[in-house]
Amino acid sequence: MQLDLLNLLKRFCNCIFYFVRALLPVVLLSGCVKNCSPKQRESFQSSPEILIGHFASMTGGEASFGQSTDKGIRLAVDAQNVEGGIKGKKIVILTEDNQGKPEEAAAVVKKLITQDGVIALLGEVASTRSLAAAPTAQKYQIPMVSPSSTNPRVTQVGDYIFRVCFIDPFQGPVMARFASHFLKLKKVAILKDLKSDYSLGLADFFKSKFISLGGEIVSEQSFQTGDTDFKGQLTRIRAADPEAIFIPAYYTEVGLIARQVRQLGIKAILMGGDGWDSPKLYEIGKDAVEGAYFSNHYSSESPSEVTQKFIKDYMAKYKEEPDGLAASGYDAALILMDAMKRAKDLDPKEIQVQLAQTKSFVGATGTITINNERNASKEAFIVQVHQKTHKFITQLGAEN
Ligand code: PHE
Repeated sequence: MQLDLLNLLKRFCNCIFYFVRALLPVVLLSGCVKNCSPKQRESFQSSPEILIGHFASMTGGEASFGQSTDKGIRLAVDAQNVEGGIKGKKIVILTEDNQGKPEEAAAVVKKLITQDGVIALLGEVASTRSLAAAPTAQKYQIPMVSPSSTNPRVTQVGDYIFRVCFIDPFQGPVMARFASHFLKLKKVAILKDLKSDYSLGLADFFKSKFISLGGEIVSEQSFQTGDTDFKGQLTRIRAADPEAIFIPAYYTEVGLIARQVRQLGIKAILMGGDGWDSPKLYEIGKDAVEGAYFSNHYSSESPSEVTQKFIKDYMAKYKEEPDGLAASGYDAALILMDAMKRAKDLDPKEIQVQLAQTKSFVGATGTITINNERNASKEAFIVQVHQKTHKFITQLGAEN
């Protein structure tokens, strides 16, 4: 009887011991709020590999964004590993699929930081998902580099949030200047996505510049991500008789909208932003997108040596042509690794300091300087859809 009791007590103590031991890493890591604990610092330094998290839409309606970006990132990282890695360590990319959902983006970023112990993050493409995840990266003070989120609010989340692309207060006016000066348009309609921070911002930045250049927005209509029938909005747009329709949205909806535009007999020019850049646009939009214009981060026709080498290496590895997302992912990884090389040690704070000092870095998308707001100052390419691909029309920088 007494022995039984003793055994029971022993088992109970054992249970408590294992429970506490299992919880210890979680407790230690979540202690890395506001300046990492010396213990976690040590774990970054002593880890045999450099762990970088990539959170992306690998599945869902925007899967092409995540997949292309991931390929670009891995191309850059694999090449660095062949060179011996960084500070003698191999770089490992941990990719987490957020299925294109903002709440998933926040959840996987928390997992990457607190469970996997990544030292830096790459992602997201879509501004809405970058905005959902950035507060977590900022809270744990883990540097996050977005390859292609263009909404201005993304990097305003805090000093650990960076991007290697231009922002919509630049991209919107670029398209407005192109519409007004190059295409000589006076009357434009807008069709925007109410569920996307990117779409709403870009619509507004385009609109105010176009009006200031003497243009008129004759109709402004909206839809929501995932919609497939746009006939109601397009019928109202047709009644306003615009010369062009500006559609700041992503390729799936843009492709469907373009087809319905032509089905309704609307002849207006179609225009958009970087969200159009996917080979899927041509599959979905078919002939309806022919002749349309959009602004982009990248052009395969750029004569730059780095761009041409990127295309060659990408084709050799993946047997397909890269899109702008792949180029932006590649540049984001290159810039993060460049900061790690310059850092005196592998500490998130040190990497953050070095990222902020990135100057005139020549990447596949152009020459990138990280400015005081942690955004990239660079030019935009304007391209025109032609026979299932797009051709370079012009390059525009900031107005001086
Ligand atoms: N700029 C878009 C956003 O912020 C994302 C995007 C970039 C999509 C490049 C396609 C190509 O949401």
